[in-house]
Amino acid sequence: MTGVVVLGSTGSVGENTLDVLERHPDRFRLVAIGAHRSVEKLAQQILRHRPAYAALADAEAARALRARLGDQAPHTRLLDGPESLLTLPTLPEADCVMAAIVGAAGLKSTLAAARAGKRLLLANKESLVMSGPLLMQAVREGGSTLLPIDSEHNAIFQCLPHGSRAGDEPVGVRRLLLTCSGGPFRDWSGEAIATATPEAAVAHPNWVMGRKISVDSATLMNKGLELIEACMLFGLTPERVDIVIHPQSIIHSLVEYVDGSLLAQLGSPDMRTPIAHALAWPQRMSSGVAFLDLVKTARLDFRAPDPERFRCLALAQSAARAGGLAPVLLNAANEVAVHAFLETQLTFPGIASVIEEVITRCPAGKIGGLDDVLAADAEARLRARECIQARSGADSQRAYGSARA
Ligand SMILES: NC(=O)c1ccc[n+]([C@@H]2O[C@H](COP(=O)([O-])OP(=O)(O)OC[C@H]3O[C@@H](n4cnc5c(N)ncnc54)[C@H](OP(=O)(O)O)[C@@H]3O)[C@@H](O)[C@H]2O)c1
Repeated sequence: MTGVVVLGSTGSVGENTLDVLERHPDRFRLVAIGAHRSVEKLAQQILRHRPAYAALADAEAARALRARLGDQAPHTRLLDGPESLLTLPTLPEADCVMAAIVGAAGLKSTLAAARAGKRLLLANKESLVMSGPLLMQAVREGGSTLLPIDSEHNAIFQCLPHGSRAGDEPVGVRRLLLTCSGGPFRDWSGEAIATATPEAAVAHPNWVMGRKISVDSATLMNKGLELIEACMLFGLTPERVDIVIHPQSIIHSLVEYVDGSLLAQLGSPDMRTPIAHALAWPQRMSSGVAFLDLVKTARLDFRAPDPERFRCLALAQSAARAGGLAPVLLNAANEVAVHAFLETQLTFPGIASVIEEVITRCPAGKIGGLDDVLAADAEARLRARECIQARSGADSQRAYGSARA
C-alpha cells in the first residue's frame, strides 16, 4: 500500500486526485489531506475518505472544522496553521505527496516533500516557476522522484526516452512543443477582450479548473508559466520550448527529436489521466477518464499564438530568458493582478500592464537561496498592489462602470 498525502485536497486537482485514489483502495492509503479554509468541503472529505490526518492552514477555519465534525471523525487527527501543511508531506507514513495548492502558497510544502525524499506529484507549477533551481536541488539531495501533473508536462514526460530524469537534458530531443487551447478568448477581438469579465475568463472551453489557473489560461500566462516549468523540469533553454495553439486540447504536448520524429500524447482533457499516470508510474492503472474516440474527434487544428492580444505570454517568455528572480517577479505580480481582476478591481488587459510595470520597476537579481525568492516575491506583490491602486479608479470605471451602475 502506498501512503498518499494530498495538499490542496479541496481544489480541482485535489478532488480529482481523491477520485482516482478511491478507485484503487487496494493500492493506496490516504494518509493526509490539507487545504486553506474550505471547512465544509474538507469535513466531507474527512468523513468520506477517513485520512489519518487533516489540516487547514487558516486557524479560525480549523476551529470551525473541529466544531463541524464534533466526535464524528475519531479516525482523523486535525492540525491547523500554515506550519501544519509543512508537517503533512514529511509524515513517515507518506510515500507520495500530491502538491496541488494553488500559487506561491504551495512553495514551502512542495520543498518540504522534496527534501523528505517523497515521490512528488507536482501540480503546483508556481513553485517551479519561483524556485526551479532550489526545488530541483531539493529533489536531487532529498532523493525524491518528481513527476509532473500539469497535463502538458506529464505528456512530455510520457514522450521522453525511457529513463529520463527530471532536470537532466533528455537525449536526442530537438525541442518541446507545449499545446495550448487558446482559452475562452482565443477568437475574441482585442476590443472585446478589453472588456472581458471574470465570469467569461473562468469559463474555459475544454477544462474544468480552479479560478486562478482559469484566468491564467485566458491571458495565456498559464502557457508562459508552463514554459518556465518545462525548462526547469526538462533541462532545456526557453528557445527550445515552443507554444502551439491547439483548440481541441486532445494532444497534450509533443517532443520533437533530432531525427524528425514528433511524439505526442493524446487523450480526453481530464486531469485524472496525468494524476493516475503519476500515481501508478512506472505502471499504468485506470483513471475513470472517458476513452478518446478518434473518429468522433475527427480533426485536430494548430495555429501560432497571437502576442498582440495575449501580452502575458511574451512577458513570461522574456522572464524565462532573463532567469534568476525574473520569474519570481512575474509570478507574484500575476497572482496579485489576477486576484484584483477576479475582484473587479482591474480590467483584463490591466493584468499584463501591472505585470509589465512590476517587472520594469523591480530589480531581478540572481537566486542565492530561498530568502532571495521570498524577498523578491514580497517586493513584487507590494509593487503590484501599488500599480493596481494607482490604476483602479480609471480602470474599473472603464470596464465595469456601466455594469455596476
Ligand atoms: N485545475 C487543473 O486542471 C490544473 C491543471 C494543471 C495544473 N494545475 C495547478 O495545480 C494547482 C492547483 O490548481 P487548482 O485548479 O486545483 O486550484 P483550486 O481549485 O483553486 O484549489 C486550490 C487549492 O489550494 C488550497 N489553497 C489555496 N490557498 C492556500 C493557502 N494559502 N494555504 C494552503 N492551501 C491553499 C485551496 O484550499 P481552500 O479550498 O481551502 O481555499 C485548494 O485546496 C495550481 O498550481 C495550478 O496551476 C491545475
